[in-house]
Amino acid sequence: MTAGSQFPAVDPGMVLGSLGAAVLALDAANLILYANGGAEQMFACGSAYLCNHPITDFLPADSPVLALLDQTRGECSSISEHGITLDTPRTGHRTVTVQVSPITEMPGCLVVSLHEQSIALKIGAQLTSRHAARSVTAMASILAHEVKNPLSGIRGAAQLLEQNASEDDCILTRLICDEADRIVALVDRMEIFSDNPNVVRQPVNIHRVLEHVRRIAEAGFARHLRLVENYDPSLPDVLGDRDQLIQVFLNLVKNAAEAAPEDGGEIVLSTGYQHGIRLALPGSETKRHLPLVVSIQDNGPGIPEDLWPNLFDAFVTTKVSGTGLGLALVAKIVGDHGGIIEFDSVPRRTIFRVMLPMVQDGDR
Ligand SMILES: Nc1ncnc2c1ncn2[C@@H]1O[C@H](COP(=O)(O)OP(=O)(O)OP(=O)(O)O)[C@@H](O)[C@H]1O
Ligand SMILES: [Mg+2]
Repeated sequence: MTAGSQFPAVDPGMVLGSLGAAVLALDAANLILYANGGAEQMFACGSAYLCNHPITDFLPADSPVLALLDQTRGECSSISEHGITLDTPRTGHRTVTVQVSPITEMPGCLVVSLHEQSIALKIGAQLTSRHAARSVTAMASILAHEVKNPLSGIRGAAQLLEQNASEDDCILTRLICDEADRIVALVDRMEIFSDNPNVVRQPVNIHRVLEHVRRIAEAGFARHLRLVENYDPSLPDVLGDRDQLIQVFLNLVKNAAEAAPEDGGEIVLSTGYQHGIRLALPGSETKRHLPLVVSIQDNGPGIPEDLWPNLFDAFVTTKVSGTGLGLALVAKIVGDHGGIIEFDSVPRRTIFRVMLPMVQDGDR
């Protein structure tokens, strides 16, 4: 705060005290040096008591939070981890996102923040998206076998009937054939969800993928909109399937284009590098960093709140001619790539963020 400035002085302690998240500062021996109001609430204990006690007095020895502290000191950079369970008499049972950062000016000292609700809820939505994708995969196989095959029989029977039918009845047999074709087309779309073990993963330049998507969008469904690109050109490659990644961003940009206003509609495509987000790969305990973030933002009215819990489920749609398969497919592909997707939506600002792992040395 400079003298003579028109803004009142802000006390950083006051800011930290008002923060909903729990914030703790630890010294090199994990002794608590500072605890904000959020930490007092989370640990159901006053700051005077928290301070000068080691954090190990408040967390069990096998708590993943303690492992994160060691790891942050080892790597000398911020690390955050989603979905950590705290289950102690003081905290009760809760799931939090923990971020640990070194305090550069104080060697060995760390600042730990624990967020509940909002971020944890987002992760809930991400995990739901994986669950939704799994159930769609199973459904796709069932549809292919149990619906498509009998349908061809029904269609064939209708065509046979048509040979001897009166003109009026022909209208009905035509209806049977047309409806059967419509259902087959829908099932064909669902088949993309079946597990495809032949997908080849290779290093993919995400900017080339986005460039391709932008060209398709500008030539068609987003012709009337302003497309803004905000790229970090230094991003490393992502390990993935180029065609599937095109599908992901095409679906997201198409939704953004359909939501953006006719007049003054704008879609912002951004890429960036975000340190510290880690998530276990599907079906494995290994945690992988997800540093590549691709965001698609639009200035439409926002996603109706009642859709949020099931947004990534198949057949969730508010559009007259929508199938509601776009985001379900996005969730499946992103999940298959070991990534996560999350969204934030308020009127005039809806953002979908896709976080993907980068290519590592062993992948090539
Ligand atoms: N950027 C967005 N802004 C506002 N609402 C959105 C946005 N993206 C998705 N939605 C909402 O989520 C619903 C589901 O999207 P999804 O892409 O899965 O299906 P769809 O777009 O309705 O149909 P399809 O993609 O099959 O044409 C949409 O119908 C819409 O209500
Ligand atoms: Mg869509």
